Amino acid sequence: MKYGLSQKFSDIYNKEAESAYFSPGRINLIGEHIDYNGGLVMPCAITFGTYLLIAVNQDGVFRFRSSNFNEAPDIPLQSNYQKIGDGWFNFPLGVIDHFLKDGHELHGLDMLYFGDIPIGAGLSSSASIEVVTAFALNELFNTGYSKLDLVKIAKSVENNFIGMNCGIMDQFAVAFGEKDKAIVLNCDTLDYELVNSNIKNYVLAVINTNKSRKLVESKYNERVEECQTALTALKQELDINYLCDIDTATFKQYKHLITNEVVRKRAKHVIEENDRVKLAANALANNNLAEFGKLMYASHDSLRDLYEVSGKELDTVVAYAKTNSVVVGARMTGAGFGGCAIALVKQEEFENFSLELSTYYTNKIGYAPSIYSSLIGNGVGIYNEYSVVGGRL
Ligand code: GLA
Repeated sequence: MKYGLSQKFSDIYNKEAESAYFSPGRINLIGEHIDYNGGLVMPCAITFGTYLLIAVNQDGVFRFRSSNFNEAPDIPLQSNYQKIGDGWFNFPLGVIDHFLKDGHELHGLDMLYFGDIPIGAGLSSSASIEVVTAFALNELFNTGYSKLDLVKIAKSVENNFIGMNCGIMDQFAVAFGEKDKAIVLNCDTLDYELVNSNIKNYVLAVINTNKSRKLVESKYNERVEECQTALTALKQELDINYLCDIDTATFKQYKHLITNEVVRKRAKHVIEENDRVKLAANALANNNLAEFGKLMYASHDSLRDLYEVSGKELDTVVAYAKTNSVVVGARMTGAGFGGCAIALVKQEEFENFSLELSTYYTNKIGYAPSIYSSLIGNGVGIYNEYSVVGGRL
């Protein structure tokens, strides 16, 4: 297999893996900090992700191994678990805990994980590991969950076991993504549409700022609370469940209800960003990449100035992109506070773009970014030995 994982599994466990699964990471084209406000988002699954090789054991032990991390705990099967420190294995452990609490009878498991998504870079490495684990458990123990159930389980693990009050976008995208399609997801109803990404002749550049993201969880949860405060204020006169239940025009009429200026700025971002997603979906459908690109830049500006989740590293990438005519649009993607930006770049100019951006960024920031060209790939599934990369596991 890719990365010699089959061999690694048998070296560790002295047996062959029973099965292998893959779940991608995701980028979000537009619609940031919208999912927990009940609006529209437009993510895509990418071809980087998390592989899981797995076999049931009769020893009543969950053995967690990863090619990315040294921590390798053996945790005995019991009726439930709490988060143990900050180790990577808490994401799969939380999923196991959820299945057990739902009353499913599990056996011990020998597991080997490997991720080729840059970890903690805003590409949903955590949703990817949660969803691949939930998918595998559902298959191995015939628990009969639908894909949407697995998405909800993974989100609940993130909220209740890990303690990050995220919305549903990441888990949904890594489960439901499809090759060359963007997902237009309504995060309130969970209705979704797969639309052609229509980026022929352009590549999706993913630029990792390599800025370590500190305080992501606490800052993120702070933004979620600010949105709640804004909603409570608007509800004095409006009958709504989410900030995204109103549009920009209505917001203008009622924004005075939000007395705290910072909270008002947060709400303004959310409501205008939701409107931008609608425009972006139309632009994509009409093959109007120039308009789509403008909306990406506007989204970034708003995340920088109103929502205040960008930072000088992400801003440097986007500022450079604006000066280069081979780029149609760029913005931070994911939670922010460092992590990754995306840019739509003319295919034949990608190499030049990477070199120039790398030099510009390194001069300004003092270290280099990592730049990938990413394809839009499929959601979670069984990883066939001869599929995906055309080689043995
Ligand atoms: C993180 C969260 C998502 C979403 C984005 C911001 O990725 O996990 O639920 O809120 O941030 O759009």
